[in-house]
Amino acid sequence: MSLPEAIHNIHSFLTEKGAPNYIDAAVILGSGLGGFGDEIQNPLIVPYSDIPGFPQSTVEGHSGSLIIGNIDQKTVLAFSGRFHFYEGYGFDKTVLPVQLANAFNVEKLIISNAAGGINLDFKVGDLMVIDSILSPTKELEFPESIDVNKLFSENAATVKEIADSLGIRTQKGSYLYVTGPNYETKAEIHAFRFLGGDAVGMSTAPELIEAARVGTKAVAISLITNAAAGVTDQKLDHAEVKDAADAKKDVFAELVKGIISRQQS
Ligand code: HPA
Repeated sequence: MSLPEAIHNIHSFLTEKGAPNYIDAAVILGSGLGGFGDEIQNPLIVPYSDIPGFPQSTVEGHSGSLIIGNIDQKTVLAFSGRFHFYEGYGFDKTVLPVQLANAFNVEKLIISNAAGGINLDFKVGDLMVIDSILSPTKELEFPESIDVNKLFSENAATVKEIADSLGIRTQKGSYLYVTGPNYETKAEIHAFRFLGGDAVGMSTAPELIEAARVGTKAVAISLITNAAAGVTDQKLDHAEVKDAADAKKDVFAELVKGIISRQQS
């Protein structure tokens, strides 16, 4: 699958800075999960603002840098900060990390996010492996030639198996994508529950679909940072999302490391 020339230029820029030509795994870090970058050994840290043609991360809790280094025997590229549609970026920009990961020929891409729990069985702090996507407003275009249902559920099953083998409890479910930026109303969440959404968030779906399109194996994990609107009486705020992510960061890191170090089947 051909990538835009701008991506090849960014790849060249990074290899000139010392990045290897090929990288084993890439990780997109969701809100509050940027601390995973500290797990990367011998890091080459490149602020997004230094990379020609790279968008900037404007959201609090996203530091906005690329971290390239090692986890055990694997080379890893982490995006600490992603690009959301609600920041004013078109879908072509929101999927740029996926295209860059593809330019480095990664064997796997791990996409993470903070999400609100719609499913009443979910608790704050749960990790949900995404096995399907729901996009009620239908802004996302799925590649017709790919069986995304099969792809997503097979990849989710692999993550579940790795989590089980590490003794990490996970949920599995459908990620309901909204463009944001505002949190939902309780009536929307009520409707989303009937539609079959388990968690709601403002990222990941475009990235997961782009990964399918370019042929990069991708898995996605939501950290449930809050109960979605109307599930409790609490008003939602960004601080709550950060607190939940902080409390769970070690387990999240263990799972991501487990996925990275697992031999490709
Ligand atoms: N809604 C949408 N996006 C989110 C939420 C939420 O409740 N929590 C974290 N990201």
